Parts: sequence; structure tokens; C-alpha cells
Amino acid sequence: MAVDYTTRDGVAVITLNNPPVNGLGHSTRAGIVEGIARAASDPSVSAIVITGAGKAFSGGADITEFNTPRAMQEPTLHTVINEVEKSAKPVVAAIHGVAMGGGLELALGAHYRIAAPGAQIALPEVKLGILPGAGGTQRLPRAIGLEAALNMIVTGSPAMSEKLANSGLFDAIAQGDLLEDAIAFARRAADRQGPHPLVRNRKIEHPNAEGFLQFARNTVAAMSKNYPAPVKCVDAIAAGVKQGFDKGLLREREYFVELVQTPESRALRHAFFGERAASKIPDVPSSMPTREIQKVAVIGAGTMGGGITMNFLNAGVPVTLLETKQEALDRGLATIRKNYEAQVKKGKLTVEKLEARMALIRPTLAYDDLKEADLIIEAVFEELGVKEQVFKRLDEVAKPGAILASNTSTLDVDKIAAFTKRPHDVVGLHFFSPANVMKLLEVVRGKETARDVLATVMQVAKKIRKTAVVSGVCDGFIGNRMIEQYVRQALYMLEEGALPAQVDRAIEKFGFAMGPFRMSDLAGNDIGWAIRKRRYQEHPDMKYSKIADRLCETGRFGQKTGAGWYDYKAGERDALPSKLVDEMIVAYSKEAGVERRTIGDEEIVERLVFSLVNEGAKILAEGIASKASDVDMVYLTGYGFPLWRGGPMLYADTVGLYNVERAIRRYAQQPNGDAWEIAPLIVDLAAKGGTFN
Ligand code: 3HC
Ligand code: NAI
Repeated sequence: MAVDYTTRDGVAVITLNNPPVNGLGHSTRAGIVEGIARAASDPSVSAIVITGAGKAFSGGADITEFNTPRAMQEPTLHTVINEVEKSAKPVVAAIHGVAMGGGLELALGAHYRIAAPGAQIALPEVKLGILPGAGGTQRLPRAIGLEAALNMIVTGSPAMSEKLANSGLFDAIAQGDLLEDAIAFARRAADRQGPHPLVRNRKIEHPNAEGFLQFARNTVAAMSKNYPAPVKCVDAIAAGVKQGFDKGLLREREYFVELVQTPESRALRHAFFGERAASKIPDVPSSMPTREIQKVAVIGAGTMGGGITMNFLNAGVPVTLLETKQEALDRGLATIRKNYEAQVKKGKLTVEKLEARMALIRPTLAYDDLKEADLIIEAVFEELGVKEQVFKRLDEVAKPGAILASNTSTLDVDKIAAFTKRPHDVVGLHFFSPANVMKLLEVVRGKETARDVLATVMQVAKKIRKTAVVSGVCDGFIGNRMIEQYVRQALYMLEEGALPAQVDRAIEKFGFAMGPFRMSDLAGNDIGWAIRKRRYQEHPDMKYSKIADRLCETGRFGQKTGAGWYDYKAGERDALPSKLVDEMIVAYSKEAGVERRTIGDEEIVERLVFSLVNEGAKILAEGIASKASDVDMVYLTGYGFPLWRGGPMLYADTVGLYNVERAIRRYAQQPNGDAWEIAPLIVDLAAKGGTFN
């Protein structure tokens, strides 16, 4: 039963009971209406309290019902709220934990609201590409004022109940037990003469509503270019302000129906569930016991080790940081401090917090100091020999049951595990640079990694606020293995007729944060060069354009050398097209006997994105990723893929796999077409009319 009904002292208590967040799915909605009717017909009941069981009042409409008949099946949330408003007996919403979306809209329909301190209050629908569709755009401005409501609705950001104590939203903040207070409040309300107050009847007071709404619309439109929902929120609010509550409600409904079908909303919902799905590993049940992680050690205080350490310090976890030499240790500590100081300067951190975080570090040169660590993360040089030394030493000193992790980006985690006598305790934790900023964490599952180790590191990832995605062992794991194909296509296109700025512009217009050449200049062109040199040895059969090697031979490694695919002015990061490099590219084509042609933006985008899709499909078929949404999460959180497109695999589904297959086969016929070996999974799914997600 999704709703419980009890009575206490003449008050009916309707408890939403649909774990984990009391989503307002069909049975919950029906239960509320039934509860109201039952209370209405019971002469011993004089008032009604609606409350939530467990950790939330309600997290809102059940998102899994969207675009299914259940979402529209009566009683809809509108009907529920109408029944609440119409109730002759006063209805009090007792709010704790979370009141979001439809949950808050339900509460706004009640005659009175009482909240526990610490409850998160939000209308987060824009984050799912929609707008509050059950009166939120009409009632919230009437409850807390036009400007505050508009701000909450277009950002979707939560506010704490106590911060809203005097906003007009709540009639009281509970001082003691919420339910007791709500019942007492309801009994007092029942003694008052009806009709009881309704938010819909309040007036919106604003000295210049029209001017403000116009300003808000312009600002919101400029800030949310690729997202249709925020502007629609403003329009729905404006309709209510200008034409009154009922017309505003109709307009809101219209927009909701429109928005819920947009590709942007589909993508945002995909990302919401994809993030949660990523933490679920098919053969690791959620009941799997986890190991206790209280003390962490990091080996190597370089670029990655420092950033990794900061993640734990930020979460209040002490870290023992080990280096080989005092100078390296001092340098690493100084960099961490400098990063925190930059946050202090920006007003994001207090000096006290900076010192508290630094005090959690225990710097050391001695492996013996790692004995107590529950989790040890290695971030030393990317050489198998160095990793071997470190893991052999760790095997000697680490306590039994300690998790031994490597941050390697290219090496074989199984080989690293084999350096120890406890390969089941070894796992890859592939952080992205800068490790204290980037959301993505690839958890690399070795062939012997124990399931409880995986369950534990997924939990740790949540604690340090990373989006963790499990990858099997393969060269480059999920993210870098795919990006290699993307970069290969980008380089071929230079050879065939494009220039770096054109390629970057086309893919940035598609929505990537940064095109491949600006990205490579930022990361350092020498990194890709080193990988290619290894490839030439290991896979002499794999063809590459040599154009990037040519660039590296001239020492143009990117921003760090002041020159790469682009020119850079000293101290600046703006990428300026380089005449020299462009000429070098044209000369290279000539030398290679390639007749340059105009390559359109559509071809650039297709070749880049479909190369990701094609490799992603192989990764799925091999079981390196366990689901398509995992691949999407890697790209959304680690590679700047546009969120409103939902990741490469969802994008391919949107385009249609039949069309993706045809495009790939077409490109395979062109010069350099042998880089395209179509993934059998695409062919299979296209033939069946199937999708990845
Ligand atoms: N519908 C369906 N499932 C939901 C849900 C919802 N509104 N909110 C959360 N869930 C599910 C999650 O998918 C997850 O499922 P899983 O255990 O199977 O993975 C589970 O509930 C727990 O969620 P979290 O892991 O996110 O739990 P937290 O405690 O960290 O966070 C929360 C709780 C703050 C409520 C967070 O889940 C959240 O932000 N949810 C979305 C809230 C939202 O966007 N509401 C608006 C919905 S749209 C709407 O109401 C339309 C209306 O205007 C008509
Ligand atoms: P770095 O060169 O900045 O830092 C490595 C540090 O390890 C140095 O401070 C060095 O003194 C220390 N070190 C070397 N041998 C050691 C040993 N035996 N014991 C203790 N400390 C030792 O390198 P970076 O970039 O931090 O890379 C570290 C690891 O992270 C590598 O495996 C790399 O592939 C991986 N990685 C790097 C990313 C990047 O963008 N830089 C991204 C993801 C992973």
C-alpha cells in the first residue's frame, strides 16, 4: 500500500509510504484521494494531516511514469491537489526531509504547511527538462513572492526549510516532533471557521511585475541556450501574473506536455537515472557487505596524487601521503595548499577550513606509515616497473583487507594486481585531471577484484562526490579507448581538407565543451604522442594519420609550450588559429598525395560522434561497460559531452541506429575508411529496430 491511513485525536493522518522517496506514482495519488474521502465521511475526524514515511515528505512525481499512460491516469496530481483544496476539513502538510517537485506542489495545495527544520524544499523540474506541472509555477509565486519563486523555479535549487521560515510558505516550523506538532496544529485549525485559506487565492504583489518578468525572461534565455524549459517556466509564471491563476495553470499544463516530450528532457532524465544506475553493478547486490574505510593513503604527491588527496580531505577523511623524496613531498603539499588558497581568495573556503583540511594530511617517506590505511591509492609515474615496485612493497606492509588501488590511465590492472599476493584486493581507480574537480571516476574491475571491494569503492566514490562508473580492463578503459577513435577521425579530417579551428568550431557548436584540438593543446600534445608511439609498437596494423607526430616533432606541445595546434599569447589561454600550423597541414596533405576537399560541419560532427558510438558499442558487446548509460555517464561527466544530448549512446538512439549504421558504412567507403570497422551490435540493433538504452 503506497499510502497509510490512521486517525489520532480526531485527526486523519495520511502517510505517503512509497519508498525510497514517496514518489507520487499512480497508487500513491489514488491513496491520497481515498484518504481525503475517508476523512471527509468520518464524522469523528475534524482535520487531516498529510505526511511522508521514511526519509522524505515526497520527492515529487514518479519520473519513471513519464511518457507512459500511468502518468495521465486519474487521479492525476491535479485531481489530487483539487481534492485537497476542496476539502471542507482543513488539510495540513507536515514536511520533513525532502519536499520536491510534485511533493511541494501537493503541499502548496494544502490549507496549511508545517515543516521540520532541515527539510530540502525545491521545484527541481528544470533539471529534468520540464517545468513544475501541478501548479508550482502558479502557487509558489503566490506563496513566497514573484522574485524568490522565479529564482527557485528556473534554477531548481533546493532551499532549507528554516531559511524559508518567514517566506510565507510555512505556517510554522516544528519545534519538537513534526507529526505531534502537525496534529496539534490541525486540531486548532479545525476549531477555526472555514473556509480555510488557499494559496491560489493569494495576490502576487510586485511593484513592476511586467518589467521584472521581461528582464528575467531575457536573462534566463541567455543563460539556458540549449535548454527550452527555463524560459517556459518564466512564461508560465508570467501567464499567471497577467491573466490570473486559472489561465496560468492552463498555460503551465500546455508547456509541461510539450516539454516532457523534448529530446532535452529525455536526455536529462536519462542522465538522472544513468547516474544512479552507474552505482549498481549487475553481480554485486546492494546487500553486499562493504569494508570500513576510515584511513586513506595516497602514494605520489604529483598532479594526480595531490588532487586525489584533496577529495578525501574535503570529505573529512585523513590521508597519509607518501613520496620518495622530501622535496617532492613538500612540492605536493605546497600545491594542495595553493589550490585551497585560491578557493579562499574566491570566498569559497574559510582560512579555518583550509587549515583543518591541511591538518588531515600526514606526509611521510616511510611505507611503514601505511600499515593502518584501509584504502591505498597509488598515483606514481606511469611505468609498469615503478608500479611493480610500489605494489610489491604495499603487499608487504598493508594490513589484511586493505584495498589497494591504482590510478593508472593506460596500464593493465590485472598485471598490477599480479604483483601482489592479494589480487582480489586490487582495483583501478581512474580519476580525471584535475582530480579534485572532475566528477568522473572510472572504477576498473580486474579479473580477480573481489565484489566487496567494488561495493566499497562505489560507496567511497559517493562519499567524495564522484560519479563512479565501472569499467572492465582494456586499453584506455571506457573513456580513453573511445576518445582514441574520435581523435583518429579528427586527425584524418585535417589530412583530408579541414583545419583545426573548423573541426573544433563544428563540434563545439554541437555542444562539446572543447573541440579535439583545443583539448589536446590543453592536455599536452606530447601525451597523445607517447601513446601513439606505444601503439606503433604494439599494433603496427592500426593506421594513424602522422600529422600530429609532425606537429610534436616541432615541439608544439600545446599551452604549456605556448604553441600547439593553435598559437597562444604569453600568459593567455585563447586559442588563435596558427598560419604556420595550417600551412603545415596543407603541405602534409600534398606530400601524402591527398587532394584536399571541403568537409562540411555535418560530416565533422558525424565522424567524431559516431566514432565514439561505434567504439562504445564494442565496449558494450565485450562487457567492458555493463550498460549503455554507463558509457553515457563517462562522456557526460568526464569528456564534456553536451548534457542536453544525453551522451553518445543516447544521442545515437535519438538519431536512430539505422541512420548511424548507414552513415558509418558511407564513411567506411571514403579514403581512410578502414578506420571504421562497424560494431556488430549496431548492425544487430539496427536490424531489429532496437536501441542501446
Ligand atoms: N521519481 C522516481 N524515482 C525517484 C524520484 C522520482 N521523483 N526521486 C528519486 N527517485 C529514485 C531514484 O531513482 C533512486 O532509485 P534507485 O534507488 O532505484 O536508484 C531512489 O529514488 C533514491 O534516490 P537518490 O539515490 O537520488 O536518493 P537521495 O536520498 O540521494 O536523494 C532526492 C533524494 C533529493 C529526492 C533525489 O532523488 C532527487 O533529486 N530526486 C528527483 C527529485 C525531482 O526531480 N522531483 C521532481 C520530479 S518531476 C515532478 O514532480 C513533476 C511535477 O511537477 C508534475
Ligand atoms: P606526476 O609526475 O605529476 O606525479 C607522480 C608522482 O609520483 C611524482 O611526484 C613522483 O615523485 C612520485 N613517485 C614516483 N615514483 C614513486 C614511488 N615509487 N613512490 C612514491 N612516489 C613516487 O604524474 P601524474 O600526472 O600525477 O600521474 C600519476 C598517475 O596518474 C599515472 O599513473 C598517470 O597515468 C595517472 N593519471 C594521470 C592523469 C593526468 O592527467 N595527469 C589522469 C589520470 C591518471
